[in-house]
Amino acid sequence: MESKKKYQIKEADKSDLKAVLYVEKVAFGYEKEAELVNDLLGDPTAKPIISLLAFDDDEPVGHILLTKVILEGDTSGISAMILAPLAVIPEAQNKGVGGALIREALRQAAQQNIGLVFVLGHPDYYPRHGFRPAGHLGLDAPYPIPPENAGAWMVMELRPGLIDSAHGVVKCAATLDRPEHWRE
Ligand SMILES: CC(C)(COP(=O)(O)OP(=O)(O)OC[C@H]1O[C@@H](n2cnc3c(N)ncnc32)[C@H](O)[C@@H]1OP(=O)(O)O)[C@@H](O)C(=O)NCCC(=O)NCCS
Repeated sequence: MESKKKYQIKEADKSDLKAVLYVEKVAFGYEKEAELVNDLLGDPTAKPIISLLAFDDDEPVGHILLTKVILEGDTSGISAMILAPLAVIPEAQNKGVGGALIREALRQAAQQNIGLVFVLGHPDYYPRHGFRPAGHLGLDAPYPIPPENAGAWMVMELRPGLIDSAHGVVKCAATLDRPEHWRE
């Protein structure tokens, strides 16, 4: 088995845009996700954001983006974000890069007093990092998730007990607030 190797993670700034879009395109194998990330990075309603790049030496191999969401109908005052997307290029997959990016992004979110982080993603992957199905907890996605995909809508609490005190409907940045992003 290949040994798990250390990757460097740094905050992505404007000068890293090319590297970010490269990673997104190569990881997903098409342009759509890179275009989404480009739009989110320029979307004032997405801010504050957490955008991190993972490097293998000087090569960008992974990217994670967290953007702001509002929990409509919630009165607890909890701040929340959504993780979308996470991307690791094929050559670097299954070596811990995705996990390292998630852990560092959640650490930074907690430092910024974020209480909840949502994700719509692989239901067998994100629970490894503490995410739980969110729909039946009264934390609804912006658009209805088909019952067969209900497990893909997940939440992670960054302080114990927050999930019990929060409820509402997640409202994303304008870029993500379109039904086509919630169909798959
Ligand atoms: C999904 C993705 C981000 C995972 O990143 P990664 O760096 O390869 O993942 P890690 O190395 O941290 O974790 C690897 C483990 O997760 C598992 N895993 C990877 N992708 C998975 C998936 N889609 N569903 C379930 N488990 C998955 C692996 O089997 C491996 O398991 P093991 O530790 O038991 O061997 C990466 O494969 C990727 O970018 N895929 C294409 C884009 C994508 O689907 N992004 C996610 C959008 S929600």
